[in-house]
Amino acid sequence: MSQDSSGRIVAGVREWITSASPGARVPSNRALMAEYGASPVTVQKAMQQLVRLGLVESRPGAGTFVRSARAPRSVDYGWQTAALGTAPAGLVGLSSTQRTVAPDAIGMHSGYPAVDLLPGRLVRQALVRAARSDAALTRSPAAGLPELQAWFAGELASAAPVGITPASARDALIISGSQSGLSSIFRAVVGVGQPLLIESPTYWGALLAAAQAGVTLVPVSSGAHGPDPEDVERAFAQTGARAFYAQPTFANPTGAHWPPATREAVLETVRRHGAFLIEDDWAHDLGIDADPRPIAASDDDGHVVYLRSLTKSASPALRVAAVIARGPARDRILADRAAESMYVSGLLQAAALDVVTQPAWRTHLRGFREHLRARRDLLIASLATHAPSAHVESVPAGGLNLWVRLPDGTDVLQVVRECEVRGLIIAPGSEWFPAEPSGAYVRLNYANADPSHFAEAAAILGAVLEES
Ligand SMILES: Cc1ncc(COP(=O)(O)O)c(C=O)c1O
Repeated sequence: MSQDSSGRIVAGVREWITSASPGARVPSNRALMAEYGASPVTVQKAMQQLVRLGLVESRPGAGTFVRSARAPRSVDYGWQTAALGTAPAGLVGLSSTQRTVAPDAIGMHSGYPAVDLLPGRLVRQALVRAARSDAALTRSPAAGLPELQAWFAGELASAAPVGITPASARDALIISGSQSGLSSIFRAVVGVGQPLLIESPTYWGALLAAAQAGVTLVPVSSGAHGPDPEDVERAFAQTGARAFYAQPTFANPTGAHWPPATREAVLETVRRHGAFLIEDDWAHDLGIDADPRPIAASDDDGHVVYLRSLTKSASPALRVAAVIARGPARDRILADRAAESMYVSGLLQAAALDVVTQPAWRTHLRGFREHLRARRDLLIASLATHAPSAHVESVPAGGLNLWVRLPDGTDVLQVVRECEVRGLIIAPGSEWFPAEPSGAYVRLNYANADPSHFAEAAAILGAVLEES
């Protein structure tokens, strides 16, 4: 009874406030008791609720009054300039790939696939089941849900050649997206001030994580078939580095897919130098003309620290990935993760496990491959027709992007800006280089924008290039 009456009083006073002036006196408790036939306690409850809602303020001894709207005050954060000092490397602004753009723009800048390419129904059903399970209310172990650890380890083990001891479930640590794994690995395995070999170009997020971890980058040139193993050997020998971050499979941004000889030679090199290969298998589920063959599957001495994410093939919202590492490196990475975030939401892990263990997951991956193929080929054909001076140096065998070379001397940032004015959003290639770019590049994502706009996108780029 009192709950109902108090609700009615709140509603009544709210309505009265809409026509009252700020600072007006609210009818007294006695008047409200009479009007609503309510007890003093009920009226008091209603008043407390109105105060909590910020609609009235009570002045002891004077009564209750309609709250006056506060004039917005202009704020001054100037003091923070001195308090914060200069920004640490890599902590200024966001990558162009993370921008939110107008809904009618053709977005080819993002690093994730369009929603309609994702297994929507599978993910939604998995989330509902996870919400009904204990995972909704319990804390996950720091290393992750044991069943999900086992799934990631089992997947890598299934690619292991005969004679290699496969990674165990314990070696697989569940992390919240592989970006956070990169930061942890660089901190825990490389360390502040230590050299880290890195392909050039490479994923901008790895450059950012490395800068934040304070490691010293040593770029190694990498092309459509990955780096020259002799360059890797030389860089290890010259710098004494103990780690090499690389994407041997469908690299972002180039789409590079290392041939078997390069894979073997680089693994041999890291072994010889007592070093780690940090293998970012970000596009494991994004193969088009080839299947992934992780180098980590051929290593049982703990030389390869392996990263594998589900964010681009299951859902970016699940934000689940794994790092597979062995020996003390595994323990250090786990300790870093625990210090950073303690554990990953068990609810999201349970949903991710549900998704990847459904028979429909395999069906999704097969369909995904065909969609990516059709989109990739359509964008290549559109560029050839409408932007012939934009050169796709090599057709990526997997991944989400075309790495496009523009004519030498092109002002890339100017081209990107001009495209944006005409409704096409693309990413300047400079963000993928650890030092000066080796050429004029842009990255075009073919997995996000509606393919019916590819011809228009290519025509915009073609026109801008012609005019520039
Ligand atoms: C090469 C590479 N590694 C890691 C990531 C991070 O992915 P996530 O944190 O979504 O798992 C990305 C995202 O684009 C990427 O391209």
